Amino acid sequence: MSGLRDCYNVEDLRQEARTRLPKWIFEFVDRGSEDDLAVSHNREAFRRLKFRNRALVDLSGRDLGTTLFGKRINAPWALAPTGAAGLCWYEGELALAKAAAAFGVPFTMAIGSTTPLEKVADHAGGWLWFQIYIWENRNWTYELVDRAKHAGYSALVVTVDVNLGVNREFNQRNGYSNPFRPGYRTVRDILKKPGWATSVLLRYLMTTGMPRHANNPPSARSQHGAVLRGDNSTVVWDDLARLRERWPHKLIVKGLTHPEDARKAVDIGADGISVSNHGGRNFDSVAASVDCLPSIAAEVGGKTTILLDSGVRRGSDIAKGLALGANAVLLGRPMLWGIAAGGEAGALHAQKLLLREYELTLGHLGCANAAELHPGLIVSDESLSAHRSVAGQSPAMEIVR
Ligand SMILES: Cc1cc2nc3c(=O)[nH]c(=O)nc-3n(C[C@H](O)[C@H](O)[C@H](O)COP(=O)(O)O)c2cc1C
Repeated sequence: MSGLRDCYNVEDLRQEARTRLPKWIFEFVDRGSEDDLAVSHNREAFRRLKFRNRALVDLSGRDLGTTLFGKRINAPWALAPTGAAGLCWYEGELALAKAAAAFGVPFTMAIGSTTPLEKVADHAGGWLWFQIYIWENRNWTYELVDRAKHAGYSALVVTVDVNLGVNREFNQRNGYSNPFRPGYRTVRDILKKPGWATSVLLRYLMTTGMPRHANNPPSARSQHGAVLRGDNSTVVWDDLARLRERWPHKLIVKGLTHPEDARKAVDIGADGISVSNHGGRNFDSVAASVDCLPSIAAEVGGKTTILLDSGVRRGSDIAKGLALGANAVLLGRPMLWGIAAGGEAGALHAQKLLLREYELTLGHLGCANAAELHPGLIVSDESLSAHRSVAGQSPAMEIVR
């Protein structure tokens, strides 16, 4: 592959990223945890969902944008928080935020970023959200929330799907630790990717030094590595309620797959939730996010804004999520592969590809906008099987698998 112009879809961007990134970074982005079951379940779940097309509908007035929290966005997504952007590209968070602003969609700055949150707020423009975890040391969390408020972030995304940590054996095999400490295997893999070594690592070394979590509160700096993934076993719903009191703008709870948790978040006053299994990165035996969406939409749809992420790779996946009750999706890895392949231009390229695919999907479905998508357009394997068994056909006759 020779760059963005040869990338016709998100998978092409992924392959381009593979050629550019050291193995330990590529796998850190690409893989999940343990046996990568959740990563593949997220994709399988989207693949299993199928639409019926509709014919001869006037789509001349079609609209690819939508409204989120009362604001117009030009495409039905926001950029997900992804702590590794600054490893994929020099100041990758800034590249992503600029690409989001240029596209007219929100960007979520992750707590684990390597670029200071103030720098992104000062230089990116656009609609900026900030993501945190609630740490055992609540004061660190509050310190950061106040900084984000002061810097002008207008939504807080509280990720609640990590408490005792995660099991990513591939990181250990690759010699990668967080924060990064060079070792034989990581350095060997860096030397195999001289383009990345000079355009990303060397630039850091000549400016701010080795990439590190730039946003950890000063009082937490000495415990640099422990902060992000520490033992947060005492963090509970009351902590979310306290954050709700402290944060005056939109509050989104990310990482829910159970309808009862969605209900609790709404009762506490969350403005939005993200049905998310963290891209399958945390809990390998969790169900696919899109499979959890219908029951959550039934519980809290209409009462809160519902976002969906994990496994979105095609415009048709976006349409499936919206049809099943999401107001918009969050884009995770596709954007990291985009910046790894070409920085801000790569992030724009990824979004253009997805928007075109989404537009074509709306065309097939005879829908002029997101609001016209509904569950009745979807035929799942389960419903096909049910129809067949009613009709007395044997499972062997099933043609959709
Ligand atoms: C490399 C990487 C780092 C991530 N870091 C964070 C993070 O710091 N905070 C967070 O809430 N989610 C994080 N996520 C999860 C994303 O926000 C999102 O839920 C996920 O990427 C969606 O799945 P997808 O990548 O399959 O689209 C990260 C994801 C990736 C791939």
